[in-house]
Amino acid sequence: MLVLGIETSCDETAVALLELQPRPLKFKLLENLIASQHDVHTPYGGIVPELASRRHIEVLPALVKEATKKVGLKNISGIAVTSSPGLVGSLLVGVSFAKALAFARKIPFIGVNHLEGHLNAPCLIEPNKIRYPQIALIVSGGHTALLRVKKFGDYKFLGGTHDDAAGEAFDKAAKILGLGYPGGPVVDKRAQLGDPSSIVLPKPKVAEFGFSFSGLKTAIRVEAERRKPLNEQTIANFCASFQEVVVDNLIEKTLAAAGKFRCKTIVVTGGVACNSRLRKQFAKVAKAKKLQVFFPTPIMSTDNAAMIAYVGGRYLLAGKRSPLSLNATANVDLTRMGIALEPRR
Ligand code: KG4
Ligand code: ZN
Repeated sequence: MLVLGIETSCDETAVALLELQPRPLKFKLLENLIASQHDVHTPYGGIVPELASRRHIEVLPALVKEATKKVGLKNISGIAVTSSPGLVGSLLVGVSFAKALAFARKIPFIGVNHLEGHLNAPCLIEPNKIRYPQIALIVSGGHTALLRVKKFGDYKFLGGTHDDAAGEAFDKAAKILGLGYPGGPVVDKRAQLGDPSSIVLPKPKVAEFGFSFSGLKTAIRVEAERRKPLNEQTIANFCASFQEVVVDNLIEKTLAAAGKFRCKTIVVTGGVACNSRLRKQFAKVAKAKKLQVFFPTPIMSTDNAAMIAYVGGRYLLAGKRSPLSLNATANVDLTRMGIALEPRR
């Protein structure tokens, strides 16, 4: 089966082509194209939804053409598209495009939950090594969630953020420090020159598997205001101190979940999984505690269509389909992720 994956939930227009075969499951990623919109949104210090949708409309047809150039559009056997959660205008571009193409070519299509895509992104990198059950940490610009994964498609939500997502916290901290958008990569880079113990910031305090990062953001704002004007070294110290608190918190909660459910496999995914300190510290504790921790490669950690083609492809192989009446949905109930995903026949 040759699956075309389409992802337009936020500020990346992405198209992938994945060849899959069932029993035993085998796949080959033929194309993985991503057109970032950072240039569109950077001047505003954050994503402007209307501009995001317009850029998706401009870019998506050309990307699909490019991705299918070698194999030929007529040889695509199914389409997987992100249908939730995300910016509804952006999602609608991908969903409408996928439906029209599926209808015209008389091939099945399926709506995929963006977070289920992130969750399974590590499988694209090391499919034969990853074992179940897993504890999965999704850390992106829009979500922070811990899940227990029994097998593909069987997810139990353990806890998530009560306010800002981890990536959002990185973006907001960067904005306060005048570092631009998106903030994660630049905070990561600047932190390497800073001292993580130089600025005392409050550790988030939320019961069990919950997260909260908005207090940390406020603390940075107050402290940065007090120390103004900030020189380069102080900015680096802010980045390192902030990052350390977030990384420690994410690792502590994930390890607690792994301990509680006696899970030896951990997957960490979403844009914040690119963070170098998070990767380093997770690798360290994994070694000490004899756990296996999997990260997707950085390109598979941030938004991409390969993960959508993979998840959608597996459902399509199992005979599942979405109806042409499928709508884009901005929010999903994470506690019902596996079930909410089940497309109606
Ligand atoms: O998964 P993603 O591409 O989009 C969403 O689904 O939200 O994640 C984007 C988020 C942004 O908030 C960005 O600042 C963050 O991932 N990010 C990072 C790093 N690279 C991207 N955060 C921390 N360190 C990084 N190296
Ligand atoms: Zn994402």
